[in-house]
Amino acid sequence: MPDQPWWKSAVIYQIYPRSFADSGSGDSPVPAVGDLKGIRRHLDHLSWLGVDAIWLSPFYRSPMADFGYDVSDHCDVDPVFGSLADFDLLVAEAHDRGLRVLIDWVANHTSDRHPWFLDARSSPQSAHRPWYIWRDPAPDGGPPNNWRAAFGTDVAAWTLDPGSGQYYLHLFLPDQPDLNWSHPPMVEAMHQVLHFWLDRGVDGFRADAVHAIGKDPALADDPEETAGQPRSSTNDDPATHPLLRGVRALLDSYDGERVMVGEVYLLDTARVAPYYGHDDELHLAFNFAPLFAPWEAGAWRFAIEEVQRHLLDAGAWPTWVLGNHDISRPVTRYGSEARARAASVLLLGLPGTPFLYAGDELGLEDAVVAPEAVVDPGGRDGCRAPIPWDASESHGWGEAPWLPWPPRADRRNVATLRNDQDSILHLYRRLLAARRSSPALSLGRLELAEAPPGVLAWLRTADDDRRMVAVNFTGSSQVLKLTAGDWRVEVASDGAGEHARWDGRLAPDQALVLRPD
Ligand code: NOJ
Repeated sequence: MPDQPWWKSAVIYQIYPRSFADSGSGDSPVPAVGDLKGIRRHLDHLSWLGVDAIWLSPFYRSPMADFGYDVSDHCDVDPVFGSLADFDLLVAEAHDRGLRVLIDWVANHTSDRHPWFLDARSSPQSAHRPWYIWRDPAPDGGPPNNWRAAFGTDVAAWTLDPGSGQYYLHLFLPDQPDLNWSHPPMVEAMHQVLHFWLDRGVDGFRADAVHAIGKDPALADDPEETAGQPRSSTNDDPATHPLLRGVRALLDSYDGERVMVGEVYLLDTARVAPYYGHDDELHLAFNFAPLFAPWEAGAWRFAIEEVQRHLLDAGAWPTWVLGNHDISRPVTRYGSEARARAASVLLLGLPGTPFLYAGDELGLEDAVVAPEAVVDPGGRDGCRAPIPWDASESHGWGEAPWLPWPPRADRRNVATLRNDQDSILHLYRRLLAARRSSPALSLGRLELAEAPPGVLAWLRTADDDRRMVAVNFTGSSQVLKLTAGDWRVEVASDGAGEHARWDGRLAPDQALVLRPD
């Protein structure tokens, strides 16, 4: 198999800095939030686990209306997370361990406290006015069009600025005004942000809501079929593509195969595919359709076939995710740890770059957050609960953290699960090792196999390396007849029968990686 860029065979681990680990030092507030030093302390754990890269959700200066996705200075670290010096140490220490570092690039909007927006708002004649999207009110005085914002129900994507009598556009919170990507000086400024971090040594970016940066110049009303849906989940304008080509050229001008994975929040694989361009736009794009698929063989078969058809067959390398900081954790969503374990085999057995969300490898469930303790305007606190590092009452955090612990943190914590070979944490570690040692599993092509209802099985092949992956989505035992020879169990989601010859049976909720006997 010819040499491939590192990010194709990599497994990327998402860290939500507020919730990962608190070093208890620096400008740490009470209740505690995680910080960059906290991440540095746990890099050895990530090496032990076997991931190849980390992606850090935003740690930039921010008023935290959207917990960092509202950036007020793209080129500095918010004091609650540490300093630029801490960031440089983190990158150096990650690189020492062979771990690459991706960071979030929030391209679609800034905070309303960003100096650019403060200036834009100060006067219609200000230099930064055209850096954002302003329009006069509709004839009835209301918003300029019918676009809806994310978060909350039926909220207009426009807020009136009483000073100028104009509305500004925000696909997310009013505190997150959208940047105007049709204005070249703004584009240049956002390119400079990329240079700033690339020059500091980052290996790539996760580009937030990047499908939304190009806007319909006419800002036409959403049609009846999508009116009422957040515009951030439907915005799919041709203007985005040349902008992504500009960003791609910038990244590719650096050595070291820097990568950009874009959040393309269009829940249809066919609509995600064009964001790879002709290998001249995003290197990778998140494909969230499978993330919303129910735990059901038919739904996943469809999701896999869509990926085969629209991405793999078109030469685009897919991504797979089971979780992130915006959606319920797999154990909560699929209903049991057994299913979440089987799902981890799915995630790491499919062709594409898998992204793990910190804490999913511990089998965490969403935290239960009392109504008076809710802090996120998007209702996503549950999956952002802090990572429990040990079984003690403080779970390795100095002060009580900003969100409640996830359920059963006395058992579901790093220290306890590391001591338990049968834990989901060890399952992830075995899967990552299996992937690393098999070109078929990491880079090989996929061929779906015949399987009984409720089961999915597929063959992965790279040159003469082969692996079979089988997932039982049902709660009953299944028999699978594979035509392609005899197999040995390499990894089992429940640990049963590993290394033994496979007898053709799948236990309830079980998933297997098989190697030729
Ligand atoms: C997507 C991010 O994942 C989410 O957390 C954020 O609220 C929105 N983009 C807005 O930046």
